[in-house]
Amino acid sequence: MPSGGFQPIEGGQQVVRTGVTRTLVLSVFTAILGSFQFGYNIGVINAPQKIIEQSYNESYVSRNAPESQSIDAGLLRTLWSLSVAIFSIGGMVSSLCVGVVSQWLGRKRAMIINNIFAFLGGSMMGLSQIGQSYEMMILGRFLIGAYSGLASGLVPMYVGEISPTHLRGALGTLHQLSLVIGILVAQVLGLDIFLGTGSRWPSLFWVTLIPAVLQSVLLPFCPESPRFLYIVCEQEGQARTSLRRLTGLLDVSDALSEMKEEKRQMDSEQKVTILQIFKSRTYRQPMIVAIILQLSQQLSGINAIFYYSTDIFSKAGVEQPIYATIGAGIVNTAFTVVSLFLVERAGRRTLHLAGLAGMIVCALLMTTAMVLQDKFPSISPLSMTAVFGFVAFFEIGPGPIPWFIVAELFSQGPRPAAMAIAGCTNWTSNFIIGMGFPYVADLMGPYVFLLFASFLLGFLIFTYFRVPETKGRSFDEISHTFRNRRNPSLLDAEIKASTELDRLGGEDDA
Ligand SMILES: *[C@@H]1O[C@H](CO)[C@@H](O)[C@H](O)[C@H]1NC(C)=O
Repeated sequence: MPSGGFQPIEGGQQVVRTGVTRTLVLSVFTAILGSFQFGYNIGVINAPQKIIEQSYNESYVSRNAPESQSIDAGLLRTLWSLSVAIFSIGGMVSSLCVGVVSQWLGRKRAMIINNIFAFLGGSMMGLSQIGQSYEMMILGRFLIGAYSGLASGLVPMYVGEISPTHLRGALGTLHQLSLVIGILVAQVLGLDIFLGTGSRWPSLFWVTLIPAVLQSVLLPFCPESPRFLYIVCEQEGQARTSLRRLTGLLDVSDALSEMKEEKRQMDSEQKVTILQIFKSRTYRQPMIVAIILQLSQQLSGINAIFYYSTDIFSKAGVEQPIYATIGAGIVNTAFTVVSLFLVERAGRRTLHLAGLAGMIVCALLMTTAMVLQDKFPSISPLSMTAVFGFVAFFEIGPGPIPWFIVAELFSQGPRPAAMAIAGCTNWTSNFIIGMGFPYVADLMGPYVFLLFASFLLGFLIFTYFRVPETKGRSFDEISHTFRNRRNPSLLDAEIKASTELDRLGGEDDA
C-alpha cells in the first residue's frame, strides 16, 4: 500500500527474520511488470506525437479521398488529445472496480485476467496504422488505460500483502520505481533511432505485449496473497502454504497470528461505503483534504510534461526536443529514488509544501524563458533546466505525498472507499489535463504554465492552512485536528491534550 514505508533495520533484533526467497522475488517482479506497463503507456505517446499525427492525417485523407487533401487542423488536435486522454477514462472506470474485483477473483487471478485488456489494447494500437483507423488507436488507449487503472490498485495491494512486515515498505516503493522506469523506457524507444519513425511507430505499441505475455506466463507460478486467502476466503491451510512458499520457513505461526489480529481489527471496524463518506461529518473534512491533494498532483501540470514535453521543448526552441524529454525522464527516475528516502524521514506536509513551492518557481522560470525565447534564442537551456526542476520538485512532494496522506487520514474501515474516491479524482483530473492542455496551450501560448503556477499557489495556500501533518500520528489525533477546524499544524502536545479532553467528554459527532 502507498502507506508502506521503510522500516530501517536498527540493532540486531529485526535483522533477517525471514530471508528474501526466490518465490518472493519472482512474485514481486511479476507484479510490478504491471506498474511498468502503466508507466510505459503514460510515456509512449509523447515523443512520436508528430509522426502519429501525420499518420492520422494520411488515414483521414485516404478515407476521404478525393474531396480531402488534408485533415482539418482542429479535428486533428481533437483526435490526438482524445487518443492521449482517453487512457485516463479507462483508468478512472477500472480503478473504481479494484476493490470488487480483488475480493471476487483474488489478487493473483485478477492480475492475470487484467492482461486481457493489455492484449486487446496493445493489438488495437499496433494495428491502427494498417487498419488506417484512429478509432482503433483511441479504443486501444482506452483498454490499456483500463488495464492501468486496475494495475495501479492491484499491484501495490498484492506486493504489500506478500511482503514480510519488515520489507513491506521497501518492496512497496518498487511499484513507483517500476512505473517511472516504464515512462523512461517508452521515451527512449520513441527516439527516431529506435522506433520513433513513420514506419516503425506501430511497434512502439506492440512492445506493450511483452510485459503482458511475461506477466501472464509468470503469475501462475506465484502464490496467491496469504492475506486474501486467510482474511477473505478464511482458508487457513492455503494461507499457511502460501506463507511457507514466500518465506521459505516451515513455521509461519508469527505471520499467521499477525493476520489473525488484522482480521479481528477489520471485523471490529465497520466497512464504510463511498456514499457514507460524504454523508458523515467525521469523514467529510479529511475527504476534502484528500481530494484537493489529488487535484494538486494532477493540476500541477506534470502530465502536460509527461504527455507533451517533446512538443513543449520544440516550441521553447530546444534543438533536440526528444533528448530533452529523455532528460526529464531521467530526472524523474532519479528523484523518485530520492523521494523514497525522504518520504520516510521528513514530514509529509513539509515535503508537499516544499515540492509545491519549488514547482511554482520552476513554472515561473519556464514562462519567462518561453516569453523571451524569440528575443534571446540562447535562453533555451534555461527552459530545459526549469522543466527538469519542475519534474524533480514534483517527485519530492505532489508525486508521492497525496497517496501517502490519503492512506494515513483514514483507518481500516473507511480506507478502501476513501482510496477509491481519491483514485477516481486523480484519473478524472488526469483526463482533463490530457484532453485540455493542447487547447489551453494554443490559447495562452507561452503563458500556459502561469496557469499551472496559479493553481499551484492555490494548493500551496490550502496545504498550509488545511493539511495536517500525518507522520507518526494516530488516526485519533489526526481526526481531532479536523474536528477542531483549527490550523492543523498545531503542536502535537496540544492535540494530544485536547484528544484526551475529548475522550473524557465522550463526544460523538457521527
Ligand atoms: C496533412 O498532410 C498533408 C500532406 O502531407 C499536409 O499538406 C497537411 O499540412 C497535413 N495537415 C495537417 C493538419 O497536418
